[in-house]
Amino acid sequence: MSFALRRSQDRPPVRPPPRVTPASFIAVASGKGGVGKTFVSISLSSALAQLGRRVLLVDGDLGLANVDVQLGIAPETDLAAVVAGWVELEDAVTPIDGGAGHGGFDVLPGRSGSGALAELPTDQVARLAAGLSALSLQYDHVVMDLGAGIEANCMRLARTGDRALIVITDDPSSMTDGYAFIKVLRGYDPRVEPLICINLADTRAAGQRTYEAVARACQTFLGFRPRLAGIVMNDPKVRNAVRCQKTLISSDPAAQPVQDVLAIAQVVIGQSHAELGN
Ligand SMILES: Nc1ncnc2c1ncn2[C@@H]1O[C@H](COP(=O)(O)OP(=O)(O)OP(=O)(O)O)[C@@H](O)[C@H]1O
Ligand SMILES: [Mg+2]
Repeated sequence: MSFALRRSQDRPPVRPPPRVTPASFIAVASGKGGVGKTFVSISLSSALAQLGRRVLLVDGDLGLANVDVQLGIAPETDLAAVVAGWVELEDAVTPIDGGAGHGGFDVLPGRSGSGALAELPTDQVARLAAGLSALSLQYDHVVMDLGAGIEANCMRLARTGDRALIVITDDPSSMTDGYAFIKVLRGYDPRVEPLICINLADTRAAGQRTYEAVARACQTFLGFRPRLAGIVMNDPKVRNAVRCQKTLISSDPAAQPVQDVLAIAQVVIGQSHAELGN
C-alpha cells in the first residue's frame, strides 16, 4: 500500500529575507489523542496561507508523525534526517501547494515510528527547538502539531511556542486532559495564555457549553479564563478527506469545518497584530 498520492514536487522553497520580529509560534496540543490536532494544524496552516501569511507547519508529533499522511505527500527528507545530521533543518522543508509566499505553505515533516525521534534526549530537543526558533524568522506563523499527552518532550516543544491552541472535544476525558495540559504548561510559564479550540462539536451551543466547562475549571483552579479561538463542527467530510489523503480546505473550501478554522485563523492574526501593537 502506498501512502503517497501526491508528491511534494512543486519547487524548492524560496527563502524570503529574515524578519526582524519572530513569527507567531502556535503549538497545537490537546492532552488526549485523536481529537483533531493534526486536522486543525493542517487546516489552520492552509487558512493562514490563504490569508496571505507565510506559514511553516512543523510535525512535532515525534513518535507518531502523520502530517505527511494527512497531506498525502511523500517527503524526501524529514526531521529524522535532521536529527541524524544528514540535512540542515531549513533543507528539510517541503513546499505544499507552491510553498510559503506562493499561495501555499511549507511543512517540516516528521517520521512515524522513528525511535530516534520518539526518544530524543533533552539536549537534542533543546537544539531542535532553538533551530525552529531561528527558522521561524523566515515566516509570519509557525504552527506545530504536537503529539498527544503531557510527557516531557511534548511539553518542551510546546514551550517553544509563544502561544498554545488547545484542541478539546465534549468527551469528558478530552476536557480533563486539555485542562491538565493547560495546567502543566502554565506551571512552566504562568504568562502563557492558551487559546481553546472546541472540535467535533455537534452544535454551536454544545461547543460553547464544552468551552464554558473548561474555562470555568481554569478560572476556579488556575485563576484565569482562557479565550475561545473557535468552535469546529463535526462533519463526516473531514474523515472522508483524511481517508482520501486530501486536505478538506483544497477539496471542499466551503465545508463548515474549513470555514470554522478560517475564523480561528482570523483570531490568530488579530492576536498577533494586537501583540505587535499594530
Ligand atoms: N471536525 C471534525 N469532524 C469530523 N471528523 C474529524 C474532525 N476533526 C478531526 N476529525 C477526525 O478525527 C480523527 C482524528 O483526527 P486527527 O488525526 O487530526 O487527531 P489528532 O488529535 O491529531 O490525533 P493524534 O493524537 O493521534 O495525533 C481523524 O479521523 C479525523 O478525520
Ligand atoms: Mg495528530
